[in-house]
Amino acid sequence: MFSSQEGGKEPVVMEAKPVSILWGSQTGNSEGLARKISKVLGNKGFAPTVYDMDDYDVSKLAEESMLLLVTSTFGDGEPPDNAAAFYNWLLSDEAPKLEKLKYSVLALGDSNYPEFCKCGIDIDQRFKALGATPMVERVDCDVDYDDAFEGWLKAVEDAAGAAASEGGEEEAVPSEPEFGKKNPFPAKLLNNYNLNTEESSKETRHVEISLEGSGMSYEPGDALAVMPVNDAAYVEDLLKAAGFTGDEAVEGTTLRKALVEDYDVTNLTLKSLKAYAELSGSEKLAALAEDKEAFKAYAWGRQFIDLLTEAPVAFETPEALLALLGKLAPRLYSISSSPKAHENEVHVTVGVVRYDAHGRARKGVCSNFLADHKGEDPVRIYFHHTKTFKLPTDTSLPVIMVGPGTGIAPFRAFLEERAATQSSGKNWLFFGDQHAASDFLYQDQLSEYQASGVLTKLDTAFSRDQEKKVYVQDRMREKGAELYEWLEAGGHFYVCGDASRMAKDVDTALHQVIAEHGKKTEEEAAAYVEAMKKSKRYLRDVY
Ligand code: 2AM
Repeated sequence: MFSSQEGGKEPVVMEAKPVSILWGSQTGNSEGLARKISKVLGNKGFAPTVYDMDDYDVSKLAEESMLLLVTSTFGDGEPPDNAAAFYNWLLSDEAPKLEKLKYSVLALGDSNYPEFCKCGIDIDQRFKALGATPMVERVDCDVDYDDAFEGWLKAVEDAAGAAASEGGEEEAVPSEPEFGKKNPFPAKLLNNYNLNTEESSKETRHVEISLEGSGMSYEPGDALAVMPVNDAAYVEDLLKAAGFTGDEAVEGTTLRKALVEDYDVTNLTLKSLKAYAELSGSEKLAALAEDKEAFKAYAWGRQFIDLLTEAPVAFETPEALLALLGKLAPRLYSISSSPKAHENEVHVTVGVVRYDAHGRARKGVCSNFLADHKGEDPVRIYFHHTKTFKLPTDTSLPVIMVGPGTGIAPFRAFLEERAATQSSGKNWLFFGDQHAASDFLYQDQLSEYQASGVLTKLDTAFSRDQEKKVYVQDRMREKGAELYEWLEAGGHFYVCGDASRMAKDVDTALHQVIAEHGKKTEEEAAAYVEAMKKSKRYLRDVY
């Protein structure tokens, strides 16, 4: 920063105050926010440096004067992959006293999961326990984090002393692209079909969307954000249960339209249950609101509308209903196409969620919105760019991809990209699903890639085609020796799909393969995997 005058003479250039910004990110949100913080503080006369938590030299931590840490949490309260090493170190006995440290934590999470924001909370508490001082108290953000983030950042700026306001010339803000999160692009849906056969117990849609006129671009590994609208029949049921016609005026529109387009009317969250328990005076619901485990069991297979049947309420105004609901959030899908193979198009692979529970047909909001979409109305989209889940820049390196079910999505994109760029590196795909006859997603395209040599190896695990279940991790173990060779040759190892079980079991199998075929102890295998993570050769897109 620049002080205006000193001693009434020459202006003197002062050192800008250094700020270290650390991010831990699985899908790129925290990373994006870290860069935003850096830009804002940079413009205000600070000297920010952004660190991937894996690249941060922890021996500097005790010497930091100002540190901002943004991290998400994934799975069952675990740190993101690139935050794991820092997290484990900080919570271990090795962490030093941090009495000089001034810091603030921004925790990202999803309140639908029980261990909401756990990684950020643990780090914050540990910082405090080690003697550090929070310059601004931690803020825990839900999926829709924009406002909470802005509030936190403003508080940080204030607390940092607008060292800023004196100096820092406002940098010209680069013009924002026309379409993005704040202004999704109304795209045309071009094609939409089921990848499973009729006999399957599953429905997985291949959805093709035009980017014509959007000016937007993406890369394999990025995600597509889709703004869904709610199911009209569900909204009618909700209106009826709440005693409204739907024509009531609210927020400059009708209640019906607000519920269909703007509000999350299905998700039964602990927050909505608490508010509803209070409004209805129901003792049963009030008890559930106090007991996380009981709430989880109750919420399974239930939606918001079930509360109205459980304990009917006479709403006085439409606003009283809206006050119980969150905003309808975009859904992210791993992109399954390469723009080099499909000019001006983006494809996604969507598992359709439909089941019956507690006497009602239940439908996942966005998957059904897309599955039932016939291409008439626009689909509002924008891209969620990630930096980490990407193909190696050295196209000669081997790539190993583990993607059962819809987890295959980014790997179809990777294979299309490797084919289009005539990459010399070998490609190995592990795919699994229930039955080969009905669930072999993208089988024809994969066969063509095998024939043309793009797909060097394909191993499938059809879990229900024989008595004993086989999964992708079993195939990994069977092919362990070769898998280890690919890793030793600098292979990048990717996993996409279910976070809670599959990704964990695949991780265990990876450790076992490395221990067995690399002739390593358990600890050595763990260090090998840790090193892969650090060098961004073990990448996961799991949900
Ligand atoms: P299952 O449903 O027959 O148990 C895609 O959903 C595939 O992943 C299915 O074949 C499914 O098998 C399988 N799957 C289920 N649990 C898994 C796990 N823990 N690890 C790997 N694959 C799993």
